[in-house]
Amino acid sequence: MSTTKTPEMEGEVYFPSPQVIEQAYVKDWEALAKRARNDLAGFWAEQAEELEWVQKWDKVLDDSDKPFYKWFVGGKVNITHNCIDRHLKTFRKNKLALFWESEDGKLERTFSYFAVNREVNRMANIIKAMGIQKGDRVTIYMGRIPEIIFAMLACAKIGAIHSVVFGGFSVDALQGRIEDSLSKLVITCDGSYQNGKIVELKRTVDTALKGCASVENVIVVKRTGHEVPMEAGRDHWYHDMCALPIANDKCATEVMDTEDPLYILYTSGSTGKPKAIVHTHGGYMVGTYTTLKYVFDLKDDDRWWCAADPGWVTGHSYIVYGPLLNGATSFMFEGGPSYPYPNRWWQCIERFGITVFYTAPTAIRGLMRFGEAWPNKHDLSSLRLLGSVGEPINPEAWKWYYRVIGKERCPIMDTWWQTETGMFMITPTPTVPLKPGSGTRPFFGQEAEILNEEGRPVPDGEEGYLVLKNPWPAMLRTIYGDPQRYVQQYWSKYPGKYMTGDSAKRDKDGYFWIIGRVDDVIKVSGHRLGTAEVESALVSHPAVAEAAAIGLPHDIKGQAIHVFCLLRSGFTASPELAEELRQHVATHMGPIARPEEVKFVDKLPKTRSGKIMRRVLKARAQGLPEGDISTLEE
Ligand code: PRX
Repeated sequence: MSTTKTPEMEGEVYFPSPQVIEQAYVKDWEALAKRARNDLAGFWAEQAEELEWVQKWDKVLDDSDKPFYKWFVGGKVNITHNCIDRHLKTFRKNKLALFWESEDGKLERTFSYFAVNREVNRMANIIKAMGIQKGDRVTIYMGRIPEIIFAMLACAKIGAIHSVVFGGFSVDALQGRIEDSLSKLVITCDGSYQNGKIVELKRTVDTALKGCASVENVIVVKRTGHEVPMEAGRDHWYHDMCALPIANDKCATEVMDTEDPLYILYTSGSTGKPKAIVHTHGGYMVGTYTTLKYVFDLKDDDRWWCAADPGWVTGHSYIVYGPLLNGATSFMFEGGPSYPYPNRWWQCIERFGITVFYTAPTAIRGLMRFGEAWPNKHDLSSLRLLGSVGEPINPEAWKWYYRVIGKERCPIMDTWWQTETGMFMITPTPTVPLKPGSGTRPFFGQEAEILNEEGRPVPDGEEGYLVLKNPWPAMLRTIYGDPQRYVQQYWSKYPGKYMTGDSAKRDKDGYFWIIGRVDDVIKVSGHRLGTAEVESALVSHPAVAEAAAIGLPHDIKGQAIHVFCLLRSGFTASPELAEELRQHVATHMGPIARPEEVKFVDKLPKTRSGKIMRRVLKARAQGLPEGDISTLEE
């Protein structure tokens, strides 16, 4: 790549090298963008043709009941057929689908596509034996081990709807999600490893299930081998079940309608409890397949590593489904970037010859602070493409990643998308000129706009609300059990346009620059948390009468949680109580939600109707203007 300032484009621009261009699937970005712009349905049908269907669709896009869009209507398919079975008929049968390393580096496991098929079938048969049928919900709460992938695929294979809860969440989050989805089965592990310590997953499940009547069975995969209680009749060791005749290596794939739900995934919204985003077998399959192929340019000789957690949408789309749909070879690492030393990831890249690496800005910033000596100890020459996701990447972090990790050879794909979008929405492809900190332009078939409060486009360079104008195949179909909230949340502010919840700017070259969330969502190290969840964890403590949570800028995490608490009478503010409250939130929600700071106040700024004005707290904390405070109560 080369850096230049050109008279044609604004700012600093990085152009692709001839090698990058030569290798890329998409050589002529403009031509494909035009193709999709002129015929959206035709473009997506062409992508869908590359996959196998039990029955072809009658109609690519049905928009007769907006915003309840449907894709590939009338078609029949199961995403797992294209993730696994399709490859078994080709040389990919013996190709490495997945290789994995344990946190301590002592264990390595590898699976060909043939082996993935066997593992998934076995697990699918066990799940079926637990009475799970098409349409039933199954909660998966595990660490980063291959079985989490097999469990997701096994559910999909038999038409059950998986609901994965991130293994870093704790009791409240898990319980709320099990209750809302009415899952009959939970799949978990005895524990997982984090920085050399055991995270007590099974014990957390036990506590969460005290309040959940729907769950009949719990499957427990042994990972740590430490002692955990097992409830007779309800809890089953996975390895014991594998020894039973029901754990057959063969399992029929359920034929699904394209619009049948594949999974639900809970995410934080602007108000109230997390909502379950619904994704489907047909459109989601086509969307994740196509975006991963074009953006990360995956080829059969690549070794792909998406360093996210399977518990977030990034893991769903680009650890599990997208790579398998593309017949790719993926690496999965159990641990984090800096345990035991800050070279752990770089060691993996060298050791396993990773060619395409995808991570989050928070990880880059975190590793940057340890200096260049750590990555420089390793041969990173296998890399050819890099990626970023989850929050805006600041230009300094981008440049460090580009120079120190990518050695000025590897374009960085800064992919903007959401749990709701299911697939990349604003993103470059490898040959697109890059500007550090911008996700460039919308993906093929998409148009984005920046609007003001009244819904009119703002001039280039000005900040406004980011909306998407066209439907896309991997779009969320609804909020599970709450279609009204789906309409209200995403489609009502500007009718006919999808409201992303982000603010952004567009420059004169048509490049988009994401600024951040405009709602009550906080992005802590790229993880999406709602102020309401943090506040309800706080008020569950006997000392707290009322609480308000806000996100403030943080050098490494992007944003950190700061809370303001009003105490009940009889309780006195003290540093010890502040520490207790931080711990309380971590215990109930998970360590990622632990507030950075707890402040005690006598009053919270509220509107006359009693809503906490978090934006006022935020402005005050940063010494910024408070904006319109005409609705503030006396
Ligand atoms: O604010 C945007 C930010 O993450 C939000 C979506 O969060 P979540 O549903 O957890 O999905 C994250 C992974 C897809 C968005 O509304 N975001 C995501 N990617 C980027 C980003 N902000 C800036 N640049 C990105 N590349």
